Amino acid sequence: MQLVIEGGRPLSGEVTISGAKNAALTILPAVVLTEGESVLANIPDIADVRVMLRLLEGIGVAVEREEDRIRLEVRGPLNPEVPYADGKQLRASSLLLGPLVARLGEARVPLPGGCKIGSRPIDLHLKALEALGARCTVEHGYVIAEAPYGLHGGPIYLDFPSVGATENAIMAAVLARGTTVIHNAAREPEIVDLATALNRFGAKVVGAGTDVIRVRGVDGLSGGEHTIIPDRIETGTYLLAGLMGGGPITVRHVIPTHVEPLLAKLEEAGVRFIVEGDQIRAWLEGRPKAVQVKTLPYPGFPTDLQPQMTSFLLLAEGTSIVSERIFEDRFGHVDELKRLGGRIKTEGRTAVIEGVERLTGAPVTATDLRQGASLVIAGLAAEGETVIDGLEHLDRGYERLEEKLAGLGARVYRVEEVEERVWV
Ligand code: UD1
Repeated sequence: MQLVIEGGRPLSGEVTISGAKNAALTILPAVVLTEGESVLANIPDIADVRVMLRLLEGIGVAVEREEDRIRLEVRGPLNPEVPYADGKQLRASSLLLGPLVARLGEARVPLPGGCKIGSRPIDLHLKALEALGARCTVEHGYVIAEAPYGLHGGPIYLDFPSVGATENAIMAAVLARGTTVIHNAAREPEIVDLATALNRFGAKVVGAGTDVIRVRGVDGLSGGEHTIIPDRIETGTYLLAGLMGGGPITVRHVIPTHVEPLLAKLEEAGVRFIVEGDQIRAWLEGRPKAVQVKTLPYPGFPTDLQPQMTSFLLLAEGTSIVSERIFEDRFGHVDELKRLGGRIKTEGRTAVIEGVERLTGAPVTATDLRQGASLVIAGLAAEGETVIDGLEHLDRGYERLEEKLAGLGARVYRVEEVEERVWV
């Protein structure tokens, strides 16, 4: 699938932000721990969520979708084995390990795939589960976690504040005997949302949002209702897309504190804001100033906005430096952005961007979700036509992408099938 952009038209107006992909992808698996019915609201209709729902159905969770609300219930026996084909596609399938081993004493999850942005091992997830008494092995492409006599609480020290390992550790600890203390935990807002949802279901999790999280094990969880937080990465993506042409752009239904690391950098680049309740209005006069950006765990600058920020800086006055500190191989956008006229050099995990005055459209290829978003942002600002191949990568994480962009004045359309031209 392709996205065709007629670029060079500044965007402005208002866009409503959807629920957070990464919060949905951890709170949906948490339902495995519950006994009653759960209703999760503000769930985005994106491909990654659809795959996760199929995985849940595949292991025995009843799923009923009504627009952005999803009703889920574990009815009958759960299957500890996650279906291979779908499970392998989605990195977040690893987030079923903790809940399944906690609930059933056994979990079999395909070694995960996901965005191609580095090797992305899951050793920290396994170390955390082992600290709670699980035995973890890899066989025939499956990660197997076993705890036939149940899990027990204990201290967990994470070598790095991994988001997924923290989530798995919390979910496993919720039904473990005794208390678990997770040290060097990730502090991302999605972790706080997971803890909030679990506590609504009857868990005892305190400290989420700090680097020490305490979980007191309980005998069981009921279901409950929870509304997922807004997507801070989608928020940042639309802000940056709008600011490429100066704006003004308003993002609605957001939690402004969750995007502070981005707002701080944009302010340095000369962007002005008005933050009011759950809305941010942003605009920029003239070209942005060059800045230095370094990705770090929350509350540092998010790695998931690094490619989009790189696109924004293509048109800055001066030389910007972007350092990627979370993933070892996350500059897949650089060569494609050069096709649009960007002047970027990379050395290891650093990109040096010499700002230019204009970009020009070209055919480019999306190879992962956020890399694809960076191509959309640059394509919208580039004069002439940009055709982005690999639109399915964007569909993994952006709900109603063309519709939202069109609402801001973009000329974009989707081509379902590539026309084959045969010359005779
Ligand atoms: C989550 C997000 C992803 C985001 C990332 C960092 C979801 C579904 N995905 O991914 O969008 O880019 O956080 O904010 O929430 N690592 C290990 N061993 C492990 C686990 C991680 O070495 O067991 C490394 C990774 O390779 C990476 C770093 O730690 O270099 C950060 O990964 P992590 O925080 O775990 O990211 P994810 O949970 O996979």
